[in-house]
Amino acid sequence: METVQFRQMKDGTKEEYLFLTKHEDEYAKGLPDRILEALKNLENTLSGYQVSRLGHSLQSATRAEADGADEEMIVAALIHDLGDDLAPHNHSQYAASILRPYVRPEVTWIINQHGLFQNVYYAHFLGGDPNEREYLKDHPWYQACVDFCEKWDQSSFDPDYPTKPLSHFEPLVRKIFSRTAFDPKYVGEQTMGKSAVDIAMSGTSE
Ligand SMILES: [Fe+2]
Ligand SMILES: [Fe+2]
Repeated sequence: METVQFRQMKDGTKEEYLFLTKHEDEYAKGLPDRILEALKNLENTLSGYQVSRLGHSLQSATRAEADGADEEMIVAALIHDLGDDLAPHNHSQYAASILRPYVRPEVTWIINQHGLFQNVYYAHFLGGDPNEREYLKDHPWYQACVDFCEKWDQSSFDPDYPTKPLSHFEPLVRKIFSRTAFDPKYVGEQTMGKSAVDIAMSGTSE
């Protein structure tokens, strides 16, 4: 079989769907390469800062590593702004979606919320509410997200910081994104569908 015969999904056979699943699994193996490529493309996105978005991402990951963060958190810091080009108005959720099948829910939650938490540094200049994040203050991961923003995100716009290159983080990107998606060993008991993390990501409760 080179392609399936169906033109509407409802007409597909079991054999065809098994065939397509094999293709999807093969394609998923290229994820680390595609993430590395997308990171390189951040060099040419948002301007106006003293560092490029790639520089900011690398600096965030470098700082996380220097502070002794674990591997999942370092990779999360590295890709936390990956959605700047395709999801400029909800880039936090974009990065969280990429991470979610491969890391513990806490890491996904922090990245999902980081845009909101970053508002504390500037929303008051733009007519917004800098403290909007406080509606989450009783969430068990609230402080971890506060710390992520304070130590690794808002601080990572310094052109003089000794930032590690992308090649330094490449093995880690390959390691995390080569994991089996939704392996309970890493993400706990959840599936692609509704799960505890959906609730956690919505910020309402655990
Ligand atoms: Fe961000
Ligand atoms: Fe950022």
